[in-house]
Amino acid sequence: MIVPINSSLADFDPSVLSDEIALDEALDALDPLRHLRGDTSLGDDDHSQSIVPVQPRSIQDELIRLSFPDCGSSTAIHIVLRVDAGPGCGGIAWPAGEVLANYLALRRERYCTGRTILELGSGTGLVGLVAGQLGGKVWITDQAPLLDIMHANVKLNQLDSSVTVSELSWGEALPHEIPRPDLILAADCVYFEPTFPLLVKTISELATEQTEILFCYKKRRKADKHFFTLLKKEFNWKEIEDDPSRERYSREAISLLMVYRKPRK
Ligand SMILES: C[S@@+](CC[C@H](N)C(=O)[O-])C[C@H]1O[C@@H](n2cnc3c(N)ncnc32)[C@H](O)[C@@H]1O
Repeated sequence: MIVPINSSLADFDPSVLSDEIALDEALDALDPLRHLRGDTSLGDDDHSQSIVPVQPRSIQDELIRLSFPDCGSSTAIHIVLRVDAGPGCGGIAWPAGEVLANYLALRRERYCTGRTILELGSGTGLVGLVAGQLGGKVWITDQAPLLDIMHANVKLNQLDSSVTVSELSWGEALPHEIPRPDLILAADCVYFEPTFPLLVKTISELATEQTEILFCYKKRRKADKHFFTLLKKEFNWKEIEDDPSRERYSREAISLLMVYRKPRK
């Protein structure tokens, strides 16, 4: 869903809103990306702990270089990433994507080598590119405006043989070319409430009881819990505990979860 930001705050009537979540929803309708812009982890604070260089929202067609894992390992992999806020919020790299990419690089054999991997809401493609470099057969997906930057990033990193770009809008029919994956990746995809049922529907259509889903998200507001209320109808999850960076990103309200389908009765 691409929601135009063309409403005016002048239309907003606070008297009809009874609680904080309703207020959040009304403000989201006016400006769906306001929570992302309020993300202090990419603001003017101390970034010495961050892998992804600070990307101002006005960023236009720039290249950044990233290494994973971030602990200076001799086996670190390197990614060149085109970032451009023009196509939408997905055109820059987000903190949950950074966390997930880093975890994959630490646990490459467990999650990537030889596996069929599908990333949802890939944006620049960062997480999927890392999975491709680590030996996965990867599909990176997003809505149409992001496809050019994803193609550019696949080329920049010479990953054409292992990473395929496909259009996949949550809630819509799955493209035929996309295989049923062993592993689904999703980073920073919980931020706009109208898309929550769409994302759950897509995950539900893709995942069998054997599918692993690594789901990294940054809690920004109370309404995020609606996503998990929907998800828990068919899925269980648990926190990933073997990530040495966990304490650091927990302080930024980021969680990395393993989600899996509940066994059918
Ligand atoms: C905050 S960005 C995160 C991008 C990337 N995963 C990262 O961590 O850098 C959210 C992504 O979800 C995508 N998205 C939002 N709604 C979508 C939908 N209905 N179908 C498919 N992708 C969607 C956006 O285009 C964007 O790329």
